[in-house]
Amino acid sequence: MSGSLTIAGLGPGAAGLVTPEVSVALDEATDVVGYIPYVARVPDRPGLVKHASDNRVELDRSRLALDLAARGRRVVVVSSGDPGVFAMASAVFEAIEAGPAPWRELDIRVLPGITAMLAAAARAGAPLGHDFCAINLSDNLKPWALIEKRLRLAAEADFAMAFYNPRSRARPEGFARALTLLQEVCADSRPVIFARAVSTPEEDLRVVPLPKSTADMADMRTMVIVGSSRTRVIARSGPPIVYTPRSAP
Ligand SMILES: C[S@@+](CC[C@H](N)C(=O)[O-])C[C@H]1O[C@@H](n2cnc3c(N)ncnc32)[C@H](O)[C@@H]1O
Repeated sequence: MSGSLTIAGLGPGAAGLVTPEVSVALDEATDVVGYIPYVARVPDRPGLVKHASDNRVELDRSRLALDLAARGRRVVVVSSGDPGVFAMASAVFEAIEAGPAPWRELDIRVLPGITAMLAAAARAGAPLGHDFCAINLSDNLKPWALIEKRLRLAAEADFAMAFYNPRSRARPEGFARALTLLQEVCADSRPVIFARAVSTPEEDLRVVPLPKSTADMADMRTMVIVGSSRTRVIARSGPPIVYTPRSAP
């Protein structure tokens, strides 16, 4: 049997946001590899072997998946959202680049998924309708000084900003520092969207002016989107609509 390695995004949570292409890949897989909660989202069936591992072992997990594929298995590595956004696709390619030459010849493909940033933006309206950037606020794999530099430059360039991994128990202080920096540099009342567990039963969406935003409004299941200076809030009887106009003066 010739093996294959598919790196697939499961979307932000809801079954309806898994693409048909990813569903087919999961139906045809012999093995699913990934972080414990993501592997748990794949239904059990006879013949499917699940390999769930803990956080922060992405390279070990990648090597396991590559080894299984090299032995002829049809392997799907799963990520939440999109696998190329702060997720497993880069980890697999890091392992391939540093690994044995035959891994490069494997049948490998990356299947996109709906990333949390886009799911959160759609819930709020269209906050990313003009130029924007995405920043991972975790300093596990990069120094905090680099995060601060990117935040400052993005704010000065007036991008809307989408923050992944804003806050975790291991990093309680970083997000507070990021907010303080933005409150100083931006010095206006642009809206900040705190979108938690989008498309799951625990979904919660809050829109708060930047000066009133506090670190405890986010946790590790929250996507934070900070508007640009042009981002608008349309008040109405239901939740407000947040959007960024398409043009800049
Ligand atoms: C390691 S990153 C993975 C991102 C993923 N690959 C993606 O494309 O969405 C995890 C972060 O994504 C965000 N996230 C993932 N799923 C989410 C959801 N359903 N609602 C809000 N944020 C989510 C949170 O900021 C979380 O800390």
